[in-house]
Amino acid sequence: MNLKQEVGYKAAEEVKDGQILGFGTGSTTKYFIDKVGMRVKEEGIEVMAIPTSYQSVLLAQEWNIPLTTLDEHSIDLAVDGADEIDPQLNLIKGGGAAHTMEKIVDYSADELIIIAHDSKYVDQLGAFPVPVEVIPKAKTIVSNTLKDLGASPKLRMAVNKDGPVITDNGNFIIDAKFDEILSPVDLEIELNTIPGVVENGIFTEMVDKVLLGTEDGVKELKP
Ligand code: 5RP
Repeated sequence: MNLKQEVGYKAAEEVKDGQILGFGTGSTTKYFIDKVGMRVKEEGIEVMAIPTSYQSVLLAQEWNIPLTTLDEHSIDLAVDGADEIDPQLNLIKGGGAAHTMEKIVDYSADELIIIAHDSKYVDQLGAFPVPVEVIPKAKTIVSNTLKDLGASPKLRMAVNKDGPVITDNGNFIIDAKFDEILSPVDLEIELNTIPGVVENGIFTEMVDKVLLGTEDGVKELKP
């Protein structure tokens, strides 16, 4: 079993019968969803999921896990991945361009567990650029404002499509590389005050537990 799979499966063991789950996005969360699907099939547990992306919708559908929405249910447990995690358990997310819905789901959950390979654990956030979802028509003014804030902004380009990445919400992603992020809490707030920004990928003060996959086994971190 690889380290992502180990943490994904371990998080799935924490799921209880009858829970409403938040399904994050990414290659680590995929293992979590797979294992929840196996538990539904083999143990007959009954859960419903609120997905954060088309990726998690499709995975849930593959396993016949019923989906619901935030209009109908609130979330007992959300499980999500991360691109960087600092010692205060602040995060950078959005490597998969899903951070807007991820933040809504993760923030609203009673409990949030982050699952990640230990290479994601860093002393200070900022080696990974901060993904910023923007309304397409605002891309230039948002980029200019990000430069004024000291960042190097780059429009994220698609890989198997010509042109920019289009998010599940129909927007663009600007990856903003900062030299260093001294206060994730302040930067998270500041970025969201720029007109045209939908949501940024800094997540602060919402994680209940991190399961880190290490060569010596799964390590548990709490705030
Ligand atoms: C998607 C995310 C992912 O959770 C993050 O990029 C981690 O992905 P992976 O588990 O594939 O490393 O924020 O927007």
